[in-house]
Amino acid sequence: MTSLPDLTLNDGTTLPAIGFGTWTLRGSDATEQVASALEAGYRLIDTAASYGNEAEVGRAVAESGIARSQIAVTSKLAGPDHGYDATLRAVERSLAALGLDRLDLYLIHWPLPARDLYVDTWRAFIRLRDEGVVRSVGVSNFTAAHLDRVIAETGVTPAVNQIELHPGFVQEQMRAAHATRGILTQSWGPLGRGRGILDAEAVREVAQAHGVTPAQAVLRWHHQLGAQPLPKSGDPTRQRENLDIAGFTLDEEQMARIASLPQRRLGGDPDTHEE
Ligand SMILES: NC(=O)c1ccc[n+]([C@@H]2O[C@H](COP(=O)([O-])OP(=O)(O)OC[C@H]3O[C@@H](n4cnc5c(N)ncnc54)[C@H](OP(=O)(O)O)[C@@H]3O)[C@@H](O)[C@H]2O)c1
Repeated sequence: MTSLPDLTLNDGTTLPAIGFGTWTLRGSDATEQVASALEAGYRLIDTAASYGNEAEVGRAVAESGIARSQIAVTSKLAGPDHGYDATLRAVERSLAALGLDRLDLYLIHWPLPARDLYVDTWRAFIRLRDEGVVRSVGVSNFTAAHLDRVIAETGVTPAVNQIELHPGFVQEQMRAAHATRGILTQSWGPLGRGRGILDAEAVREVAQAHGVTPAQAVLRWHHQLGAQPLPKSGDPTRQRENLDIAGFTLDEEQMARIASLPQRRLGGDPDTHEE
C-alpha cells in the first residue's frame, strides 16, 4: 500500500493519495480486477453510473473482507440524470447497484452546459450530503466558470473536480483555479491512457534517473502537483507498481521536463461534451 499521506478535502474528510480507475472494466473481469486492486492496497475506487460496472465494483468491495469504512467509493451522476429530482432517483440506483448505503464521493460527471441543469443537480447533491447519503460532493470536467456558478448560486464549493490531467494535458489554469477555490484536483487519464505519454523520451529519462518505471514517474509528478491520480490497470503487477511512488522525489527540472510534452486533450471539451 502507498505510504503517501491522505489528502484532506475542503469539507474536512480525507481520501487516499491515489485512487483506482475502473473505466472500461466490465463484467466478472471488473470484479476480479477491483478485487486485485484492493488486495494491492488501493482504498479509493472510482466508478460511474455510465461505466456499467457499479454492481461488479460493489461485489469486489463486499467480498474483499476489508471494513467498509476503510474503502472510499466514488460514483458519478450520468448526463440523462441531471436535474434535482432525477439526481435523487439516480443516486438510489447507484447505491442499489453498488450494494452500499452511502457513497464516499459523488460527482456530477459532466456539466452539460447546453442543458443548463447542473446548478439544480448541484442543489440535489448538497441535500444528499446534508442527509448523509453521500459523504463528500464534487464535480467532474467543470471549467472555472462552471465552478464559479455553482458556488455563487449555492454557497457550496465542490470538494473535488475530476478533470483530464496528464503530461500531455497539464491543465495549469484549472489547477490554479482549484488552488484558489480550495478544490482537490483529481486526475483522470493520469497516464494519458497509456498512449504515447509513457514512451515519451522526457518521461523515460526522468524515470531512468530514479530507477522507476515511466508510469511511476508520471504518477509521482501528479502527486507533487498536489493532484490525486486515478490510474486504471487490469494487470495486478502494474496495479502495485502504480501505488509504489513514495520512495523518490522529482526535482523542479524533472517536474518541468515531464510537463514539456506536446499538449493535446484526449477526452471531451467540458463546454460542448454531451452525454
Ligand atoms: N471523469 C471523467 O470524465 C473520466 C474520464 C475518463 C476516465 N476517468 C477515470 O479515470 C480513470 C483513469 O483513466 P483511464 O482509465 O482513461 O486512463 P489511464 O489510467 O491514464 O490509463 C490506463 C491505461 O494505461 C495502462 N497502464 C496502467 N498502468 C500502467 C503501467 N504501470 N505501465 C504501462 N501501462 C499502464 C492500462 O493498461 P492495463 O490495464 O493493461 O495495465 C490502460 O491501458 C478511469 O479508469 C476512470 O475511473 C474519468
